[in-house]
Parts: sequence; C-alpha cells; structure tokens
Amino acid sequence: MRSNSPMLQNAAPAKPSASPTVKPLQIGPVFVDPPVLQAPMAGFTNYAFRQIVREFGGAGLLATEMISARGFLGTCKHSDRLPDRLWGVADEPRPLAVQIWDNDPDVLAAVGAKLAHELNVSVVDINFGCPVRQVTERAKSGSYLLRDPQRMGRIIERIVDACRPTPVTAKIRLGCTRNSINAFEVAQVVETAGAAALTVHGRTAEDFFTGSADWETISQIKPHLKRIPLIGNGDLNTPEAVLDAFARYAIDGVMIARAALGKPWLFRQVRALLLGEPPVPEPTLEQERELLTRHFELICRHFGAEKGSLLMRKYACCYAQGRRGARKFRAHVAMISTPEEFHEVVKTHFPRERVCGNGPSL
Ligand SMILES: Cc1cc2nc3c(=O)[nH]c(=O)nc-3n(C[C@H](O)[C@H](O)[C@H](O)COP(=O)(O)O)c2cc1C
Repeated sequence: MRSNSPMLQNAAPAKPSASPTVKPLQIGPVFVDPPVLQAPMAGFTNYAFRQIVREFGGAGLLATEMISARGFLGTCKHSDRLPDRLWGVADEPRPLAVQIWDNDPDVLAAVGAKLAHELNVSVVDINFGCPVRQVTERAKSGSYLLRDPQRMGRIIERIVDACRPTPVTAKIRLGCTRNSINAFEVAQVVETAGAAALTVHGRTAEDFFTGSADWETISQIKPHLKRIPLIGNGDLNTPEAVLDAFARYAIDGVMIARAALGKPWLFRQVRALLLGEPPVPEPTLEQERELLTRHFELICRHFGAEKGSLLMRKYACCYAQGRRGARKFRAHVAMISTPEEFHEVVKTHFPRERVCGNGPSL
C-alpha cells in the first residue's frame, strides 16, 4: 500500500501543537491534532485522495465525500455492499469522519447508527451546507434546512441518540442568503441538540463559491457556543493563511477543501508552520510524478484500469492548478482513456530530469 517516496511516507505521529493559540481540538472523545481538518468534497475525497493526504500527514481529521443517507439504505436493502462512495471506509485508519445528507431524521439516524456501530467511524457529520439544487430544492436537504433551525435540531437529536457514543457534528454555511444569515441561532441549536462540533463555511448558500469567505462572521459565532469547538472554513490555501486565521479569528480549528486537491501535502506544510518547525518544501517534479502515479494506482485498484483512467482525468487536472504549462497538461490529460496514455502524459510533463531550475513545473 505504501509508496517508497519520502514525500509519501506516513509522517511521524503529530507532536502536540506548540503554539499557544493553536491547541488540538476535541470532538467528543476524538482528538484532532493538529486542529486542521480535510473537508468533505463530493467526487474528490474518496479513499484514494484520503490515503494520499494520510501518507503526507498533517491533517488532524479526514472526511469522506457526502453520502446520501437514502441512497445508503437503498444499497443496503438489496445487497451487503456499501455505497460506492464508502469504498475503503471499513478498513482505513481512524480517525475518519463520514458525512451524510438527507432531511429525514429516521433515515439519517438509521444510517448514522450503521456508520457508528457497524463501521466504527470516528465521527458522523451531517451536511447542512450543500447549495446544489439537486440536494436543496429537490431533496429539501443540505443548506435548504438552514431555513428551519428547529428541524435541524430535531434531526441532530435523533442522530446523536442513534450514534452514541460516536460524536455527531454539523457542517453549515452562514445562512441561505446574505439577508438571512442565521448561523448564530443555528449554532446554538446545533449545540443544544447534542452535536460535538460545528464547522462553518463562511459563505451563504446563495453565494455558492462567489466572493470571499466571511471570516469575521464565522468568528462572531464563537460566543454563541458554550461547549463545542468551532471550525472555520473557506479560502484557506496556504500555511500562512491558516496561521493568520488562527491569529485573527475566534476559532478552534480550520477545515481546508479546494486547495488540498492540487496540494495534498498542504496539511503537512500547515502543521510544520503551526509547530514552528522548518518549512516543508514544495515537492520536486519527480515527487509530483510519483504522487500522480500513486493516485492513479489507488484509483485503478478500485475502479479498474478503464474507469480509473477516465476518472483520473479530473484528479490529474487538480494537480496542475497554478503550475506553469498547466493548460497543456490539462489538454493532454483530459484525453486519456488507458493507463498507457496516462503514463505517457505523465512522462512527458514530469520528465525524470529536472528541466527547469525553480521548483516544479508541468
Ligand atoms: C468539488 C467540491 C465538492 C464539495 N463537496 C462537499 C461535500 O460533499 N460536503 C460538504 O460539506 N461540502 C462540500 N464542498 C464544500 C467544501 O467542503 C468547502 O466547504 C468549500 O469548498 C469551502 O472551502 P475551501 O475554500 O477550502 O474550498 C465541496 C466543495 C467542492 C469544491
């Protein structure tokens, strides 16, 4: 399972965070150290991605993609199989959070109980932030539920009861629209209902991904919570941005999503900065090549060579983010349909000898 690359070795167990402002956080019995979480991302944070992040080290808690609770029950009714999005979950290292979505307390509680008691996941997270129409308008779930905090409370209570002693957390946005920001009220409801942590993406559902995450408002939620940690999320894309967030805002932890897709080593860099250790350099071209190959191997092991090659197009494109020659690499990698084609593209764009002096380039 493990790569021989030094960049991809499992990092040594995290030392306790040294900085006085950045302490490990606790989600029920689960220690999150450092208090830097890998966000759930549908279509991306599957086992292969999580394993890559885990091998680099530095993330205190990893999360699956969001799982439809109804879909989960449907799959279980007809076979012993788990939903495809849960591949790897049964056996992979802990701590691990699994995120579920729906609007029916009974359905969510049934799935939460399975995750907690049969799969022994570390944390069951409920999605109250997804702004996608299929989830909101069609299924009255995700961020749609932010308009009814009392219903959110009933949902959380049911899941907490069903999952006990496994902690249940909630991930929200600031509100449905800029004119209806209600994260303060929602935070209290979430805590009172028995959740063990609250993650807030500093945008509204209406914002989707436009504008900037509003960290001031995230920070203002903190006085509304008495017991549970507040985890801030949105636009953190460098170790310095994370340090700055801890310095400026009243948060207990941070969650990183998009920036990690192209830089799964970011968590390791963040941890080094938080601990005051020497900076972790960007990987070399050779190490990035190994990383792409490793990701491809993990994907193909589950999906097979044909589907794996097609899926790898989108993951490989993420690694091109912000690099020189990215457009050309994307154009090439978007055409691959076989492992041979994938390896050929990687060989062309990540030659064994360094061709340019200043850091990795595609
Ligand atoms: C492709 C993609 C998929 C996402 N899927 C989920 C999801 O399944 N569950 C969830 O709570 N948030 C999901 N999000 C939102 C992220 O977890 C995160 O809240 C958001 O991207 C802001 O953080 P960032 O600025 O670090 O990317 C997704 C975001 C993206 C870009």
